[in-house]
Amino acid sequence: MIDRREFLKKSGLAAIGTVAAFSKSGSALLQEETADLGKSKLKEESIPVVISTWKHGIAANEASWKILSNNGTALDAVEQGVRVPEADPDVQSVGYGGLPDRDGYVTLDACIMDEKGNCGSVAYLQNIMHPISVARMVMEKTPHIMLVGDGALQFALANGFKKENLLTKKSKEAWLKWKKESNYSSHKLKGHDTIGLLAIDKAGNLSGACTTSGLAWKYHGRVGDSPLIGAGMYVDNEIGAAAATGKGEAVIKISGSFLVVELMRNGKSPQEACEIAVNRIVKKQPEYIDKYFQVGFIALDKQGRYGAYSVKNGFQFALYRNNMNQLLDSKFFIENQK
Ligand code: GLY
Repeated sequence: MIDRREFLKKSGLAAIGTVAAFSKSGSALLQEETADLGKSKLKEESIPVVISTWKHGIAANEASWKILSNNGTALDAVEQGVRVPEADPDVQSVGYGGLPDRDGYVTLDACIMDEKGNCGSVAYLQNIMHPISVARMVMEKTPHIMLVGDGALQFALANGFKKENLLTKKSKEAWLKWKKESNYSSHKLKGHDTIGLLAIDKAGNLSGACTTSGLAWKYHGRVGDSPLIGAGMYVDNEIGAAAATGKGEAVIKISGSFLVVELMRNGKSPQEACEIAVNRIVKKQPEYIDKYFQVGFIALDKQGRYGAYSVKNGFQFALYRNNMNQLLDSKFFIENQK
């Protein structure tokens, strides 16, 4: 295996500046001294790294880290990582136990992308516990990138997945309550804590995965950003990877994850790239001020540097690096109205 220093030289990444990531309190959590590998090199322990969205990212990261620390690939790590919240009935924004659409159907979106730029995706998929694994199978077994709805279901069933009821008692009750008390205003849509998970493995390869039950009480048939390569998630193994969470419509409008990766390509740090993408939303989508509006981005670059930023306060991300798995508060653009 090519060593870290050699790898960075070959990648043309010898000089990469300094990055600082901050918690909500603004204190520096991490500073990597990286000015010139001739004089000071990146710490070996800066890879592998796993970063994912929200609190449920902690358990997902654990599963990913197990694979990475045993010399597994980033692709296996991201898939196995997000399968954890997909199967957790208490996570009501992903997979099994996800909140349904306004007609009571749990419909799932997911995508995956590897270091070679291969990708697979499913959207509006019902009754399958692990949409991320179906997305991977679309990537590996078909000449296509995306399967949706009944076609995605038939493909999954033909490939050994089981049909299951994903609507738990708890989520059904929440839906019945919403039906009584709420209207269909998009401003009131909640429950969009998608999991996006990005990893870099010991060989320096990046992959990403993103999976969600989408906005709660959405229109039947609505698909968000999460299964759309470049919106919900994007990987370019030369540069870095990014994933989005929050209101999918807002992310799609700016091709959010692709934008974050392109900003890194143009020299921005992962943190700066996430901040610029959020600023783009704020500038172009005045509805960002609405109480229920939220978008957050996470990013990871080829050196294992990370970033996270959101429109509103409250976005958390899970970071596993240097053998430590932490839940961190993201910096944000604006405090939400009370
Ligand atoms: N970001 C998830 C969704 O909007 O469906």
